[in-house]
Amino acid sequence: MPKNLLVTGGAGFIGSNFVRLVLATDPQVRIINLDKLTYAGSMANLQNLPDESRHNFVHGDICDRELVRSLFQQHLIDSVAHFAAESHVDRSIADPESFIRTNVMGTFTLLEAAREAWLKNKSVSLEQARFHHVSTDEVFGSLSPTDPAFSETTPYSPRSPYSASKASSDHLVRAYHHTYGLPVTLSNCSNNYGPYQFPEKLIPLIILNALNGKPLPVYGDGQQIRDWLYVEDHCSAIWQVLTRGANGETYNIGGGNQPPNLEIVHTLCDILDELHPASPYRPHRSLITFVADRPGHDRRYDMDIRKIDHDLGWRPQENLASGLLKTVRWYLDNAAWIESIRQGSDLTGWMEKNYANREKKA
Ligand code: NAD
Ligand code: TYD
Repeated sequence: MPKNLLVTGGAGFIGSNFVRLVLATDPQVRIINLDKLTYAGSMANLQNLPDESRHNFVHGDICDRELVRSLFQQHLIDSVAHFAAESHVDRSIADPESFIRTNVMGTFTLLEAAREAWLKNKSVSLEQARFHHVSTDEVFGSLSPTDPAFSETTPYSPRSPYSASKASSDHLVRAYHHTYGLPVTLSNCSNNYGPYQFPEKLIPLIILNALNGKPLPVYGDGQQIRDWLYVEDHCSAIWQVLTRGANGETYNIGGGNQPPNLEIVHTLCDILDELHPASPYRPHRSLITFVADRPGHDRRYDMDIRKIDHDLGWRPQENLASGLLKTVRWYLDNAAWIESIRQGSDLTGWMEKNYANREKKA
């Protein structure tokens, strides 16, 4: 089991949920949480942790070689859960450079530090050491309606700067395992949703815009398909892989939920109609606005999760109906969090930049 766990990107959406889960699950582990606090990271995501005394936050960049090396030394890091990344496809289209820097160079920097600490300096035993890399289903590209789901052996075919940078980092992690013998695991996961998701991503964006009577932007025809997974299920899967996964192996993680985007938006509108009967914007579906599609928009993702189910006994606990209801309730109950995210990030500027020039479809 991990003793001194370096979590990168632990102030972001999935990383902060993971920090919460680990502190609540394992009373022995100590977390060193390295996060640059970009627009997507916030200390507001780390309020009221289950045990603050075992959580050490370090404000810094995974590309900072000296900092990363010193953390491995100072804290005798034996395990890494690597979440830190630029994560939004639309931003990668507008500004790819930061994706290459953080996702590729940042992962390289962490791998080098782990190699030095574990293989050269032998700071911890190799049986104890594990580098877990968190990746995405987007590295596999896009499926047609009849294609089988992505498996762990599906060839990579990334199609956006985001997915290309993640694919690149996955290859580096595997290369460090095969070339140097670094103990690693990888997981590729589908779209997450749930508490603490930055409100530029589809589900929180729709909830917040609907609450404020703003248009609900649906790209293209809204028939693109994602395999939605509740974030706590993703975090429990990562914990299983980190603690029980086989060295060098990759595990696909997914939710088995594949409705088209438009159906997700309809469901959110219906939940809000019910939870907010006095809203002046009912029916919230009337706010739906079809806008110009994302360039190169992947049509369909679907994850085959038989390996993680068979090998580690993991499968999602939340279904889409219960997960979306919980998520809407969380955003309704957390107005102070929304306000602090709005004030502490470039959300307003991004919304103007991303949506201003999306011509309305005829
Ligand atoms: P996020 O954008 O919400 O959080 C990313 C975090 O990384 C932020 O806290 C940010 O401050 C930090 N960060 C960014 N650049 C950094 C740097 N150079 N140094 C240190 N910290 C830095 O992302 P997320 O949605 O929580 O995703 C986490 C990971 O999971 C990513 O690797 C992503 O590719 C992967 N993933 C996400 C999803 C999803 O649906 N969100 C699905 C599958 C995989
Ligand atoms: P997003 O949450 O950005 O995640 P990803 O691009 O990683 O899948 O988008 C999820 C889906 O929703 C994707 O098919 C794009 C679509 N989408 C919209 O239709 N409108 C929007 O305003 C956004 C942000 C996304």
